[in-house]
Amino acid sequence: MKNTNPIGLFDSGIGGTTIWQEINKRMPNENTVFLADQKNAPYGTQTKEAILALSHKNVKHLVDQGCKIVVVACNTATTNAIDELRASFSIPIIGIEPAIKPASLLTKTSTIGVLATKGTITSDLFTAKLKLYPNVKIIEQIGYNLVTLIESGKLESQEIKDLLKRYLIPMVEQGMDTLVLGCTHYPYLKPIIKSIIPDDILIIDSGEAVAKHTQKILEQNNLLNDSITPGTCIFYSNVDTTVLKTFIPSHHLVREIQF
Ligand code: DGL
Repeated sequence: MKNTNPIGLFDSGIGGTTIWQEINKRMPNENTVFLADQKNAPYGTQTKEAILALSHKNVKHLVDQGCKIVVVACNTATTNAIDELRASFSIPIIGIEPAIKPASLLTKTSTIGVLATKGTITSDLFTAKLKLYPNVKIIEQIGYNLVTLIESGKLESQEIKDLLKRYLIPMVEQGMDTLVLGCTHYPYLKPIIKSIIPDDILIIDSGEAVAKHTQKILEQNNLLNDSITPGTCIFYSNVDTTVLKTFIPSHHLVREIQF
């Protein structure tokens, strides 16, 4: 494997670009290939078996493109499929999970909120993780419909604002002082979330930590690209790319392909 081979990332759609941004910020000279499986979005309402099959298909596609490492830029795919993916493919596979550990260290009221998809919240992996923090009250909230609205590009819509109010205000009322965004789509909602919850509530996601961890694993495997020029970044979607393009710096290549 050459260190110039790309880092592969996938998500059900646009959300994973928040992880790509962190990776590109930290390692701008790495080449990247991003798969947005928008034809099959959202993942969060599907069965574990379906999420597993879709994740497997995506990783296979990235491996076939010569990726040296795959970042599962999706909490739902990670919490439902990471073990099986690691057992099926020989390249390193990095996952992303809701940032409960940092939240549990930062909370002062011992009350944190987690906003994530149904697939993440009901997964065995997530349920097992919750048990590690018996002294913290963890308020779980499924973000019904948020991913679908983000995928349709309706970031500023009243519909999103109303849903977020319905989900977040009860969490604030229960004393949450730290909010974990447990879906890679949700960082795009931060401005609206901030307009709903009090200023002193911390909002955290896992993007930076995942980028850091990816860098560390590449380093350990001698796979860091030592090029001194910016990497080539390609984004693929299996539907019309009009909305996806609005989330990506315009100098990068965005293509519609079948996968
Ligand atoms: N962005 C994803 C996540 O982090 C997937 C959301 C979905 O497709 O439901 O969970």
